[in-house]
Amino acid sequence: MKKLWGGRFTKSAEEWVDEFGASISFDQNLVEEDIQGSLAHVNMLGHCGILTIDEVKQIKNGLEKLLQRAKNNELTFSVQYEDIHLNIEKMLIEEIGPVGGKLHTGRSRNDQVATDMHLYLRKEVKEILGLIRDFQKVLIEKAEKHVETILPGYTHLQRAQPISFAHHLLAYFWMLQRDYERFFESIKRINISPLGAGALAGTTFPIDRSYTAQLLEFDGIYENSLDAVSDRDFILEFLSHASILMTHLSRFSEEIILWSSREFQFIELDDAFATGSSMMPQKKNPDMAELIRGKTGRVYGNLIGLFTVLKGLPLTYNKDLQEDKEGMFDTVTTIKGSLKIFTKMVETMTVHEEVMEKATKDDFSNATELADYLVTKGMPFREAHEVVGKLVLHCIQEGKYLLDLPLSTYKEASDLFAEDIYNVLQPRTVVARRNSAGGTGFEQVRKQLIKAKEIVDSR
Ligand code: ARG
Repeated sequence: MKKLWGGRFTKSAEEWVDEFGASISFDQNLVEEDIQGSLAHVNMLGHCGILTIDEVKQIKNGLEKLLQRAKNNELTFSVQYEDIHLNIEKMLIEEIGPVGGKLHTGRSRNDQVATDMHLYLRKEVKEILGLIRDFQKVLIEKAEKHVETILPGYTHLQRAQPISFAHHLLAYFWMLQRDYERFFESIKRINISPLGAGALAGTTFPIDRSYTAQLLEFDGIYENSLDAVSDRDFILEFLSHASILMTHLSRFSEEIILWSSREFQFIELDDAFATGSSMMPQKKNPDMAELIRGKTGRVYGNLIGLFTVLKGLPLTYNKDLQEDKEGMFDTVTTIKGSLKIFTKMVETMTVHEEVMEKATKDDFSNATELADYLVTKGMPFREAHEVVGKLVLHCIQEGKYLLDLPLSTYKEASDLFAEDIYNVLQPRTVVARRNSAGGTGFEQVRKQLIKAKEIVDSR
């Protein structure tokens, strides 16, 4: 089968070699962007007098028909034509005749493919921003219900100090806010047009790159044609931001898995987000959270994969760059799916407030409070730490908690203790009093919620 670029060749490759080199199996994802790019290009060729008005009209009609068919999933692609660009060009020529061959005037697949990917990521990043916002809204709604729900906060996965559950949920809100900002800021580097850079060096035709950039709603053009066709930083950046986002989702997954275990029982997932075991009838497994934790690995892999493709690659276009696509598509699918699942999973989970609160009582997470108490009465913190440490040891030996000890025991440890320690030691008081900015005190958490709401309402 003769290739569109077959002029200087005396024989064609065997089919299996063609198959190895082809990208159509995956770059057909770019079909709409490819046609949109071509429409802008042909409009520009007309505008600059490079093609006649009639030629432009015929080509545009053909492209628009193909675009409609693409939207209806009616196009059939062929490995023979290697990639999306040549498949579309071939279809155009079939549709409108040899004049279709004029579309590629002053253009190369190198600037074309880069343009397609810039358009594709712009569209996807905007959708991802919306999905992050949806998740943030659910976190806010959940947090609003649980400002006064208390649970142990952990360090080293050991109970440390009691905190508000809303405070814990909002920690994820802020992580997602940074993700939002990273993706948002990256749009300014995605939204630059490589179109018109040609194969690498520009073209002899009097094209107008700003014109196509405007038609495609890009904010500007690459200033250097070599950079335009070989830059994949915008994809690296996307994969990096996606990796950080997945890190957040993976950490949250881990907590959801722990919390829904029999050992914690802090939450119960809705049946729709859990699965049973084929053998053990009692099981309810947090599969979706586990899967998201697992999928984080493939997103990291996609990032490292592209870094490795780019490392040491000489300017400008090299076929290695065809390997930039699958990891990008896979990452888009993975993070969109993970965000959607997470949003619903959190929205529908049941929070066992009593179990959380009980965990703050069967525990020494109020010990810092006791040390702080002595400090406010004048004892140096180091000494107070020692006094309370001894009391905790005493409790452990006696099988008791701090609230169980009689005042006489406290007095023996230090005469600074008085009756009011029993109120101070209540986990709820402990949380409420952590009222420093950004702390878990209920008042601070309410302030935090107001800020979070302002952010999601602002755009
Ligand atoms: N399928 C190719 C890719 O994805 C398109 C660009 C081909 N350019 C070339 N000079 N072979 O990278």
